[in-house]
Amino acid sequence: MGQKKLLATLQGKVSDYPPMWLMRQAGRYLPEYLEVRAKTKSFLDFCYDSKKATEVTLQPIERFGFDASIIFSDILVIPDAMGMNVTFVKGEGPKLEVLDPTKDISHLVFNKNALAPVYEAIRLTRASLPKETTLIGFAGAPWTLATYMLEGKSSKEHQVSRQVMYEHPVFFEQLMECLIDAVAEHLIAQVNAGAEVLQLFDSWAGSLTEKEFERWAIAPAKAIIQKVRAVYPHVPIIGFPRKAGRLYPFYAKETGVDALGFDYSISPFWIRDHVDIPLQGNLDPLLLAVDKKLALEHVKELLHCFKDRAYIFNLGHGILPFTPIEHVEALVKTVRGEA
Ligand code: CP3
Repeated sequence: MGQKKLLATLQGKVSDYPPMWLMRQAGRYLPEYLEVRAKTKSFLDFCYDSKKATEVTLQPIERFGFDASIIFSDILVIPDAMGMNVTFVKGEGPKLEVLDPTKDISHLVFNKNALAPVYEAIRLTRASLPKETTLIGFAGAPWTLATYMLEGKSSKEHQVSRQVMYEHPVFFEQLMECLIDAVAEHLIAQVNAGAEVLQLFDSWAGSLTEKEFERWAIAPAKAIIQKVRAVYPHVPIIGFPRKAGRLYPFYAKETGVDALGFDYSISPFWIRDHVDIPLQGNLDPLLLAVDKKLALEHVKELLHCFKDRAYIFNLGHGILPFTPIEHVEALVKTVRGEA
């Protein structure tokens, strides 16, 4: 059997057309997802139902034949497995109890056993995937997880989190150390279960100053990658420090990631010329949802930009729930040169 396309690209091979997958590809834009989702009230219970998680992980592969599947789970399973009482409120997003920075964090212990259903879903998915499809495991990076644990919800500026960073530096550092260990453990367990590639999502990296970015995005990613590599020296890791802007090249160089995901706010030409490892991105998910014609023009520009590079086609952030299926079908055809 030839090598899987995504794995070859992660080793630096350039191919006739790039391997593709989409962030949040198992999700609400798919009617078959909504159907399975409707049968379980709580989002986390849904994530912890190994059979359902497997079923929805496979859905976008069956429909579109993407080159990779990403296990259906969430970055917030880590705080949940630390006993933080995570819930998802319909229409509002995640809700967590807020950490008190004047107390210590000794009660935060990552209980890997609580995530056994996630690892089971990885095992089941791997056994059912077509032979050419790569299975991606993932985790949220410590800074992004810390924002949810300190704000208690999604936020845009992360002022509370950054205030804790300044006012309670010892507490903040302990929290980040604890998250580095948990994230590494969770990623290693996913590879044990059958994940072939890992992606580290630092969705809120863009709200850090340059100094903070080095300390709280680059250094933790580097530490996590070292821990994973101590057990699995060859597992490819994709880093996605979203909205890192001109700091992307430093992240690519310093962390030891095999590939870099980049968001839609940065020019693909700039990224191509400043980063020399394999790249993944960056079509605007909103454009894909609302303007098929213009989106396909952007896709062609991306394909042209990366024609001589190891490149994984993806969006610059997760696919939006109101994206028409027909737009995704046209996208797949264009990327594969069948349009
Ligand atoms: O298909 C895939 O990409 C795999 C599954 C996946 C989910 N979340 C499922 C999900 C992945 C990789 C994630 C990552 C994730 N989760 C991130 C990092 C990527 C990013 O978007 O920046 C973050 C920040 C989260 C936290 C999170 N989960 C939020 C803020 C929300 C609510 C907002 C929303 O989109 O509804 C979720 C819920 C969530 N995670 C859904 C899905 C499919 C929607 C909930 C539902 O179906 O009821």
